Amino acid sequence: MSARTFSLWMEILDYGRWAPSPHNIQSWRFRLEEDSSCTLLYDPKRLLPDTDPTGRFCTAGFGLLIEMLDIAAAPRGLSVKAEFLTRELDAKSPQLMPFARLTLVERQIPETLDRQLILDRRTSRLPYDDAPVSRAVLEELATIADGFGHKFEFSTDPKEVAWTVRLNADTMFFDMSDPIARNEVGGWIRFSRAEARRRADGLAAYAMHFPGLLMRLFVQANYLFRVPGIYHAVRWFYERSMRGTKTVAWLSGPYGNHDEWINTGRMLARLWLTMTKHGVYLHPFGSVITNAKAHARLAKHFDDGSRKHDLWLLLRLGHSDVPPSAHRLTLEQLLVR
Ligand SMILES: Cc1cc2nc3c(=O)[nH]c(=O)nc-3n(C[C@H](O)[C@H](O)[C@H](O)COP(=O)(O)O)c2cc1C
Repeated sequence: MSARTFSLWMEILDYGRWAPSPHNIQSWRFRLEEDSSCTLLYDPKRLLPDTDPTGRFCTAGFGLLIEMLDIAAAPRGLSVKAEFLTRELDAKSPQLMPFARLTLVERQIPETLDRQLILDRRTSRLPYDDAPVSRAVLEELATIADGFGHKFEFSTDPKEVAWTVRLNADTMFFDMSDPIARNEVGGWIRFSRAEARRRADGLAAYAMHFPGLLMRLFVQANYLFRVPGIYHAVRWFYERSMRGTKTVAWLSGPYGNHDEWINTGRMLARLWLTMTKHGVYLHPFGSVITNAKAHARLAKHFDDGSRKHDLWLLLRLGHSDVPPSAHRLTLEQLLVR
């Protein structure tokens, strides 16, 4: 690989490492090859076999990463082309596994999103500012989703927003009472700032707007949170952290196999960066999607008869203070020699 190609890859990958992943697992690794390509690998230890058994959310994360790499390459007149080396994630594999071969090719279509947005984008689990997201932005997001064959629906009706926030809280507390889900998610929670900084991955309690000690008790002594008084107090505290939410949205579209998960991730990258461009933050409500009962309630509640595919994402979106930044592994840690 020439020194120039090496330095281009380093520049592009340094943006890509800021891509979001479920629970900030960052399952990707990069190996630069003699022939100027980059092999994208996955780390089987950084998957979610219990809560994402088909790998659909982890694979969507790779789609997000690839789209962000492509956006990062644009100012150099380049595109990142991906050839997939597998269509399945194997959490039992003992070593890093190849996921895709990435090559840099001359860009044909100009990029509309500034790559700085990749660095500015964040998840905001903070209270929002009581202002609904503007109709123009919501319609822009719906148009982007449509371009990928997905449907972006939303509500700014205060009653519907409150219903959705409550459904998420009900489901989250219910799911976390299940030991299998709690163990897997709990393994990715970083209870203190020092731990979050040292491990440079996972869900930091401070990013979730939850005191670390309370979070530790929630994961390690969850039975306490099923005692009625304690349950209601913590529930109130959790719901209060979502105050000021005035817009919720949900996405549906083809989401049944590897190629569709990648396409979905690529779309989510563009939706998320477009929100960042407009100063809008988002907070996904994953439990409502993965919990079958909550999923069915949501789909039925907002059914207007026009939806062709299952829902795969629910989120609240709005304006908040700048949320804390979630740590990332360094490029040095992500590169495989
Ligand atoms: C496919 C996908 C699903 C996600 N689901 C959730 C979720 O259910 N709840 C949540 O709070 N964050 C969710 N997130 C956000 C990640 O936790 C977040 O991107 C990661 O912790 C890094 O933080 P950052 O986005 O602020 O950089 C999801 C992210 C992705 C890519």
